[in-house]
Amino acid sequence: MSSKPISVLITGANRGLGLEMVKQMVDTQSPLTPLSVLFACCRDPDGPRAEALQALAKMHKDTIKIIRMDTADRSSIKQSAEQVGSLLGENGLNLVINNAAILTHSTVADSTPETMAKDFNTNVIGPMSVIQEFLPYLRAAAKNSAEPGMSCRKAAVVNLSTILGSIELTSQSYENFSTLPYRVSKAALNMLITCAAVELKKDEILCTLLHPGWVRTDMGGANASIDAQESVQGMLKIMNSMTEKHNGVLLDYKGQSIPW
Ligand SMILES: NC(=O)c1ccc[n+]([C@@H]2O[C@H](COP(=O)([O-])OP(=O)(O)OC[C@H]3O[C@@H](n4cnc5c(N)ncnc54)[C@H](OP(=O)(O)O)[C@@H]3O)[C@@H](O)[C@H]2O)c1
Repeated sequence: MSSKPISVLITGANRGLGLEMVKQMVDTQSPLTPLSVLFACCRDPDGPRAEALQALAKMHKDTIKIIRMDTADRSSIKQSAEQVGSLLGENGLNLVINNAAILTHSTVADSTPETMAKDFNTNVIGPMSVIQEFLPYLRAAAKNSAEPGMSCRKAAVVNLSTILGSIELTSQSYENFSTLPYRVSKAALNMLITCAAVELKKDEILCTLLHPGWVRTDMGGANASIDAQESVQGMLKIMNSMTEKHNGVLLDYKGQSIPW
């Protein structure tokens, strides 16, 4: 039996893991297919950093819709939601992937209120605003689905977190990765999504967190251990197998649980 096509939205889809997700999701062999529509969001669709995404969208005109969205700007998220809403049918939006984030390198000694606020705004308030603005469409997807329980095919918000947000593991990695604003913001993201998982359970919207591994992207750097292809392959496989048992969990790209 073939599965019902799903609608997906990815933030920060113009480079790194976001772009790789778009690439793999339009491949009909990948998990989580078929797609009815993939909203690939980025803050500057006409700029040089979106060229690869534009080229991909040209090859998959019927599926990929590029949407302007700056996740650090609430009014931009609102406008994107209005645009997406006008393109969506009554079946709503099945899957939102909060991927966009920034990483500031600074320590307890030299972080400033400005660097802390900047990472917090993009990495926490951004995903919160995305959830709020797209909630009506996620609720519509859950309501219109005939599937029991929870899944990424029905209605879900998957959030890219990191092992660096783990309070329990900080003493093992802080000296090599002294990224205070990023770590604090990702620990806060973990709490945000834990709360969302409890609050949105009644709507049957799955809310979960994934650590992609240490990946060779602009953020991860050239010395990271895996490439984006391997990371995204792993994450898509996990997303495809998620059920209500995964509501509020933090897993890595291999499906291993990460301590808070
Ligand atoms: N790479 C790793 O090793 C690693 C490890 C753990 C977790 N992660 C997480 O995985 C996710 C993706 O990371 P990545 O490695 O792909 O990072 P990346 O290569 O730095 O890409 C970040 C993406 O986020 C976008 N972005 C940043 N601020 C934005 C904003 N205000 N509005 C819209 N888009 C914005 C960027 O768009 P622009 O081109 O416009 O800047 C870019 O598309 C992040 O959540 C990150 O925390 C990554």
